[in-house]
Amino acid sequence: MRILSGIQPSGTLHLGNYFGMMQPSLQLQEQGEAYYFIANYHSMTSLFDPALRRKHTLDVALDFLACGLDPRKTVFFRQSDVPEVTELTWLLGTVTPMGLLERCHSYKDKVAKGISSNFGLFAYPVLMAADILIYDSNIVPVGRDQKQHVEVARDIAIKFNDQYGRTFVLPEPQIHEQVAAVPGTDGQKMSKSYGNTIDIFGDEKTIRKQVMSIVMDSRTPQEPKPDAEKNLAIQLLKLLAPADVAQGYEDRLRAGGLGYAELKKALFQRYWESFAAARAKRAELAANLDYVEQVLTEGAARARAKAREVLKRAKSAGGLD
Ligand code: ADP
Ligand code: TRP
Repeated sequence: MRILSGIQPSGTLHLGNYFGMMQPSLQLQEQGEAYYFIANYHSMTSLFDPALRRKHTLDVALDFLACGLDPRKTVFFRQSDVPEVTELTWLLGTVTPMGLLERCHSYKDKVAKGISSNFGLFAYPVLMAADILIYDSNIVPVGRDQKQHVEVARDIAIKFNDQYGRTFVLPEPQIHEQVAAVPGTDGQKMSKSYGNTIDIFGDEKTIRKQVMSIVMDSRTPQEPKPDAEKNLAIQLLKLLAPADVAQGYEDRLRAGGLGYAELKKALFQRYWESFAAARAKRAELAANLDYVEQVLTEGAARARAKAREVLKRAKSAGGLD
């Protein structure tokens, strides 16, 4: 079984990325042949600063390795080190109905948010389909917001197979429902574009500030809170602390007597301890960038061998051999 996922180097990674995508992907390393990559081609649709792209690319590599990506098990690489994927994008684009792309929520949302539309932004799901199909991927672990893109990849594979004969493996999205949408500090989905994140790595003061900025209501500490399970700090605590510990805080909040400041301090403490080992590992890796580069180069070589094989199959099916 091949498992594939990608993440754009478009900003600092946060707890939404961690619980929605990184942690489930890292757990899957044990269950099959995992291919994980840094989607730097995709980031070109909305990030136009090359220095920032380089910085975020390195940060994503460090974050994944620090959080437990094991390069002996997992093929880890930069998307642009496998340029075959752009060639396959063209082949796939020719069997992709316009309507399929016009229906993509992510495109419509980005345009509605004022991101200027370009061909790359519109064709984004076709490149993503190529990412998935070029490695014969079976399972694609992603957050809920990417589910439609994986379904589009599957539809494109079906179209191509119908047109040219069985060429591509049909992929399945895998969504971890309980963490499909980690809430941000303002209660919307946590996202770097909403400025409501709690980052995975960062200096203590910045993260403490992010945690303390979680929006609460104006009820006094003494008041019982029958809706304690909806409290944002409780929801985040459930991800970071053992179930009985989180439940203990929820019960105290429900009964009345637990102040929001104390709750947020407890959340920060849990967060800080949860990532202590990863933080130390990240510092070690940051001091050894040659090793990080070597992991990505070797990953690309392995990914490329598979990509060449599948691209050849697709070109031959399409009469381009
Ligand atoms: P952002 O919304 O911050 O720009 P991305 O769109 O780059 O994040 O998402 C990267 C990965 O993390 C995707 O698989 C996405 O589904 C997942 N993800 C992002 N935010 C969340 C969240 N709040 N809850 C769960 N998963 C998320
Ligand atoms: N679009 C994904 C995101 O923004 C990143 C991505 C690119 C991806 N190619 C992929 C995810 C292929 C899974 C499979 O999060």
